[in-house]
Amino acid sequence: MSNQDKIQKLIDLRTEAKLGGGQKRIDAQHAKGKMTARERIEVLLDDGSFEEFDMFVTHRCTNFGMEKQKFMGDGVVTGHGTIDGRIVYVFSQDFTVFGGSLSETFAQKICKVMDMAMKAGAPVIGINDSGGARIQEGVTSLAGYAEIFQRNIMASGVVPQISAIFGPCAGGAVYSPALTDFIMMTEESSYMFVTGPKVVKTVTGEDITTEDLGGAEVHATRSGVSHFLLENEEEGLLLIRKLMSYLPQNNLEEPPLVECLDPIDRIEESLNTIIPDNANQPYDMKEVIYTMVDEANFWKFTAIMPRILL
Ligand code: HXC
Repeated sequence: MSNQDKIQKLIDLRTEAKLGGGQKRIDAQHAKGKMTARERIEVLLDDGSFEEFDMFVTHRCTNFGMEKQKFMGDGVVTGHGTIDGRIVYVFSQDFTVFGGSLSETFAQKICKVMDMAMKAGAPVIGINDSGGARIQEGVTSLAGYAEIFQRNIMASGVVPQISAIFGPCAGGAVYSPALTDFIMMTEESSYMFVTGPKVVKTVTGEDITTEDLGGAEVHATRSGVSHFLLENEEEGLLLIRKLMSYLPQNNLEEPPLVECLDPIDRIEESLNTIIPDNANQPYDMKEVIYTMVDEANFWKFTAIMPRILL
């Protein structure tokens, strides 16, 4: 094979890998109003900054005829890139390949970026769209989760971990994001539950909808699992970029500095009267905060916040 042939083969393989589970499944993903794993990375990162790892990895499962079904990349796109010039490590689960379910090799790809992020002292951003453990792989898949959870714990308090939930995440696919620092969910297209409504019905006899069991609203207003409720994926990806502007790269660095035009000696007379003389009379604590902070720039992270305006 000539060098030119080899280069052409590489280009062809890349083109095939970029199709994930195939055009039909990509179309189905778009029909649900969802982006593909790679489209999400494109919106998230600075233009042209993404360097992908392990693009040609495939699973090695032979149960249930799986050896005949292989997709390059094996359902997760991993690598690093930049946000406003600062390096971040990313994994983006590809629902078009076995519903984004986690195999042994899929887990190894995620662990690799997490290890590299910890080594480099850079944030890890996970875009989750996964049906959980890849059923055909059984305990091998579960072992993969154990490795990821261990890394979530090791990275906690060392580098920021951010999770976007952009699909029907079930089982093991939700334990890991739940351990991370910031979690966001899209309304009416993302779910986080340990097991679905059918199993709940079988085990407890309770009828419950997917939305009530683990929809974005429930996790933003009741369980407290999710910090941000999003209208769509693009809003979420831009929100991660904004979030990054508030965060240091790791526990040893300072957060980014921005120019502040608020005078350092600004006197806020309103603070003298904002607290009522009568201790029984309520007042708005947020007014105190907005008055005190630089340029009234305060971003409240809370489970019950309806929506963040960018
Ligand atoms: C293998 C899976 C899969 C899984 C989905 N698929 N989940 N393949 N393992 N876990 C495949 C489907 O077979 C289908 O393949 C494609 O992904 C899309 O799935 P659909 O069902 O057609 O999509 P949708 O109707 O949108 O439903 C998505 C879903 C549902 C809600 C996620 O697929 C689902 O309930 N999946 C199973 C969820 C589950 O029980 N996971 C295991 C949890 S146990 P084709 O070829 O048709 O495109 C677990 C234990 C962790 O995770 C323990 C950690 C220690």
